[in-house]
This record gives sequence, C-alpha cells and structure tokens, in this order.
Amino acid sequence: MAQIKPFIRHLRLLAPAKINLGLRIVGRESSGFHCLETVFHRIALADILYLEIQPPQKNWHKSPSSGHTTIICENTETPLDERNSAHRALNLLRQLGAPIGDVRLRIDKRIPIGGGLGGSSADAAAILAGLRHLLPAQVSRADLAQGALGLGADVPFLMGEQACAHGHGRGERLTSMRPWSGRPLWLIIPPWSCPTPQVFAALNDAERAPRSLLGCSFWQRLMDEITLNLRRPTPAKTHGLLHNDLLSAALRVSPALNILTDWARAQGLPWALSGSGSCCYLLEAPSKPPPLGCRVMPTHFA
Ligand code: C5P
Repeated sequence: MAQIKPFIRHLRLLAPAKINLGLRIVGRESSGFHCLETVFHRIALADILYLEIQPPQKNWHKSPSSGHTTIICENTETPLDERNSAHRALNLLRQLGAPIGDVRLRIDKRIPIGGGLGGSSADAAAILAGLRHLLPAQVSRADLAQGALGLGADVPFLMGEQACAHGHGRGERLTSMRPWSGRPLWLIIPPWSCPTPQVFAALNDAERAPRSLLGCSFWQRLMDEITLNLRRPTPAKTHGLLHNDLLSAALRVSPALNILTDWARAQGLPWALSGSGSCCYLLEAPSKPPPLGCRVMPTHFA
C-alpha cells in the first residue's frame, strides 16, 4: 500500500474566496438545481487550513470511513462534522482511493460564512487540489470533478488553477478568462448570512425562466468596458452592469439586506451582490461609512 511521504504529513493550504462578477439564472435542471451563468473571480481573502495527516491503517480500504477527521476551528458557526464540506472532501478522496488515514484539520476561518464568497466550498476545494496527487492513477479528472461538484457548486472553480472563469451549468462548466489580478475591491460584510438553499428556493417563476447564455465573449467585453469606465472620472456609468439575478430573492429571504444595497446604490459606484449574498462588493473605495453593524474589508482580485 502507498505510504504518505513525510513531507505531506503536515500541510498548510490556502483556501481563497471568490466573488461573482455578475450572475444570471438561465433555467432549471430536472433535479431542481438551477442553471446559471456567471464570472467567477478569485480574491485575496482566504481561509488557512492546517492538516496533520496520519498514514493509512493496516486494514485501510477504499472507503470514506477508512480514516477519521477531527476539525478544530475557533469560529463557532463552522460545523465540525460531515456538514463541513472540508470534512466531506477528505471522505471523497478516501472513497476515490487516496490512502489518507486520520486527519486533524485546523481551519483559520477568515472568509465570512453564508456570505456568497464561497467560504465552505473554498476549504473543500483547497483540500481536493492539495491532496489530489494521492489519488490512484485510474481515477479520472471527470470522477474527481463530479465528486467536487457534489460538495458545492463553487468547488470546481475554486479547485482549478484559473483566477477568473466564465461558468455555466451549476457553475462547473468553466472557461478561463483574463483576470483582474491585483485590482482592488471592497467587500461589505453584514453581520447576518443568506442561506443559499433558501435564496434559490425564493426565486419566482419569472426569475427562473429559461434564457439563452450570453457567452464568455460577452462577459469579457463587459469586464473590458468596466475597466475603461473605472479609469474615467465618472465610474458611475458602470453602475448596474454587474447584475446579479439572485438579488431580489436574497432581499426576500433577508429583508435586512435592503439597508446594505440602498447604501451601496447611494455610493454611485459599481457594486454587486456576490453569489446568493449576504456580502456585496464595490469596485471603488466607498466614500461613506458602512451601515451600522456592517464591515468594509478592502482586498484585491487574486
Ligand atoms: O452548491 P451549494 O452547496 O452552495 O448549494 C446549496 C443549495 O442551493 C443546493 O442544495 C440547492 O438547493 C441550491 N442551488 C440550486 N442551484 C444551484 C446551486 C445551488 O438550486 N446552481
């Protein structure tokens, strides 16, 4: 049986968050999942994962139960069991045949939970990308990709190497795009979260009606237009270009989000909701302090 080499017994992994530069709902699968079109962009904000991996036991077999995962996290909202997608990512690797024994995983949680920044998917993606080399050669990319999607719609993008990609399907059909690496952005983080399943469930029939894809080149042109506008003295022209079809549903689920979106609109700067919320981002520095209880976090595109 393959032994884990000493150098990977202790591993430190960076799990960067993402934002969605616009998001459209384009239909619904028969499974109930929604088909979407979006541009994912990795950002500098990241969780840090510290793994201590034990070699497999003598009676190790290809199964999620062939090793135990202990999660340590100071953030009390982070689940420490199978509800944590990092836990499920380790089980997926064991199930696909990676010889991983017991794991002690410490998560330094920096990405807000339920913020639409891919927080839990990021941790799972970092584990899949960081330990995929332990998988037997006969496990195909497609097997891993299918398992990854099962952990969360943002996992396929976040485990890839591209910093920016057009995504459709549930977000797993990805085409790399020219990134905005280094450009600043400001996250506006409210003290509450928006549960993704509830936001998707709150879409009305008109909002989930089938639509055709705009396609990668449309989004690339839009990004170029935004770049040009941001260089002009009136960047407000790009206001509204970063449309997110989940915004109305997110406002129905979390009416408190109105305070944040009213504030963002009043800045007259390009802004959008990321994913299913609750975080918004601005592409220019806000001139007014955020609404009570909300935090502004300056960061940059990765
Ligand atoms: O992928 P993620 O774990 O974030 O999805 C949470 C839930 O949101 C799903 O179980 C599903 O109910 C809903 N969802 C959806 N269509 C998508 C993504 C998520 O209906 N494309």
